[in-house]
Amino acid sequence: TMGGYPDFMAKEIAEQPEAIERLLKDRLGPDGVRLDELAMTDEEIAAIDRIFIVACGTSYHVGLIARPLIEEWARIPVAVEPASEFNYEDVLVTDHTLCIIITQSGETADTLASARKMHAAGAKVLAVTNVIGSSAAREADGVLYVQAGPEVSVASTKAYTAQMVAAELIALFLAQRNGNLGAREVARRFHELQRVPAMIREVLHRSWQDEAAARAFVESSSALFLGRGLNATTAAEGALKLKEISYLHAEAYPAGEMKHGPIALIDPGFPVVVICPDDRVRYKTLSNIQEVKARGATVVTVATDGDQKTAQLSDYLLLVPAAPEYLVPIVAVVHLQMLARYVALARGCDIDKPRNLAKSVTVE
Ligand code: F6R
Repeated sequence: TMGGYPDFMAKEIAEQPEAIERLLKDRLGPDGVRLDELAMTDEEIAAIDRIFIVACGTSYHVGLIARPLIEEWARIPVAVEPASEFNYEDVLVTDHTLCIIITQSGETADTLASARKMHAAGAKVLAVTNVIGSSAAREADGVLYVQAGPEVSVASTKAYTAQMVAAELIALFLAQRNGNLGAREVARRFHELQRVPAMIREVLHRSWQDEAAARAFVESSSALFLGRGLNATTAAEGALKLKEISYLHAEAYPAGEMKHGPIALIDPGFPVVVICPDDRVRYKTLSNIQEVKARGATVVTVATDGDQKTAQLSDYLLLVPAAPEYLVPIVAVVHLQMLARYVALARGCDIDKPRNLAKSVTVE
């Protein structure tokens, strides 16, 4: 049941801190991050030549976040593909290739087909899923359950953030087991991850910021989402949520690519959401805010607490607590989930059952 919430999406957004706490519980042992589910020996891990992450929709976005983290921490090359593309490609696989499928429902037909294709090619398949006993769980060699609890709303929220945490656990685990990160560093990053639920709770208390910012979209027919690095993906996920439940056209772009085309869209009042946390590319993203501002855009910014400069340039601020770069996508997206929901409410849309969509897509 909805337990007093107006819709399942509201409930599931609110459940994110507990979901992540459940996932992280008992995951740090004396030897570092524990992921017995992976069922791979140190020799097998050391021999991995490439990882394919294959998924659809929101789960595909988790893969985009995971890629640079696995590459940076575990130094293993990673390719991320939407399953519906991957299945028709001639991919380079060896028996040292690891395939990670990410699927909340565990029933997405394209994703399951990818797992079969990889198995047939000799790769090992790890499933990250939310549903116990799902087809993905049964077909994979190893399963990491994200334990977010049933997700009813068609728009995925708590599964997205829990899957990102799961992906970061996998990245830490691989890095520790192949010797690229020492035990102390792994433990330090794990303890940082444990701060995420509290940071999300803080963002949940700021839903009034999203409710206010929703006004910028109600009368418009289109919106642009910009971000850099990991948060180019946060922008993509924010745009997907908005399209899905408010039926507003939304497009995401890596912020620096904007001037190569989409900036032509901007006219006075055009809503632009910019993910601009305090990270190593903040000053570059700030210049993108200036560019759209100069053309009259209404700017909604996700920024870090205390960032005066960004605040001055923004029409609406969605503030997040200061966090290491690899945690920001998990925390920042919560604002974009709430923003999409408020826009959809203002436009009179069905929050939990958007038109034309089903919770799991079981046809290829
Ligand atoms: C978006 C959404 C979809 C799913 C996609 C994959 O909010 O829910 O994009 O993420 O259909 O579903 P799973 O993860 O069940 O394979």
